[in-house]
Amino acid sequence: MTDFNTYLHNCQTRINQYLDIHLVNQHPRLNRLFAAMHYSVTMGGKRIRPLLVYASCEALGGRADKADPAAAAVELIHAYSLIHDDLPAMDDDDLRRGQPTCHKAFDEATAILAGDALQAQAFEWLSSADNLAMQTRLQMVCTLAAAAGPQGMVGGQAIDLEAVGERLDLATLEDMHLHKTGALIRASVQLGALASEQATRQQLEALVNYAESVGLAFQVQDDILDIESDTSVLGKRQGADIARGKPTYPALLGLAGSQTLALSLRDKAIIALEGFDQRADRLRQLANYIVERRF
Ligand code: IPE
Ligand code: IPE
Ligand code: MG
Ligand code: MG
Ligand code: MG
Repeated sequence: MTDFNTYLHNCQTRINQYLDIHLVNQHPRLNRLFAAMHYSVTMGGKRIRPLLVYASCEALGGRADKADPAAAAVELIHAYSLIHDDLPAMDDDDLRRGQPTCHKAFDEATAILAGDALQAQAFEWLSSADNLAMQTRLQMVCTLAAAAGPQGMVGGQAIDLEAVGERLDLATLEDMHLHKTGALIRASVQLGALASEQATRQQLEALVNYAESVGLAFQVQDDILDIESDTSVLGKRQGADIARGKPTYPALLGLAGSQTLALSLRDKAIIALEGFDQRADRLRQLANYIVERRF
């Protein structure tokens, strides 16, 4: 087995190629819209959600090419969520992945439309993926739509914005995180399992448990990095959450308490995979990576 960094790099290359091939403009008047979409999809990004799709598919013995459409679709939803998250009406951020945010590099209207376009594009790609059975595509569309919508990411964003300046209790904070970040991470793992076309109900349940812990750990670490990491490493403005009175784990538990929580969620995620063989090692390594990352 290659080391994790090589695996990470290979998956990133694979998904980047897929995105490059598929995200093409064929209309001369849409150059600006596509430039903004391209900018937000291809300028960096760790590709953690596609990685989770591939690793979850692999854990069940599935083929990577069957996971490609879902890996790409979830990354488009993620990119759209970031464009809108950075808008002045939301987090009002000017830096993302070390570059001006989409509305700074282009303009607000273009950024809004680029986000809208990426969201719809994700579902078009997924539903027209001709290397997957119709039934699988439908299940994937349903899974991704639920995770992106009011019961998932968008719901979490709404809770986040309403809670600005408030001190949430731990249960509410966890609920917010499970929605705004957890839902897409959970969907990534479910999509990977669907792509394998051979997941048992028991395996799916275990993977969902893994994903919930990893998803929460991911956002806890994101909150920690907002305090700990330098703007130059992070590619986003350090301290943006504090400056805006955002509800975060460090605000409630302190930095040390949040770090302890992230590690215990990592452990919980790995325990959830106990029934899986070595083919789930990438998922185990990913759980580690998520809490050890510096950006
Ligand atoms: C950042 O996500 C936003 C959150 C959901 C916390 P990532 O840290 O995965 O962002 P990129 O895609 O790697 O830039
Ligand atoms: C963003 O959470 C979550 C989504 C985009 C759905 P944050 O607001 O914490 O993400 P960053 O820190 O701006 O990347
Ligand atoms: Mg936000
Ligand atoms: Mg933000
Ligand atoms: Mg953040």
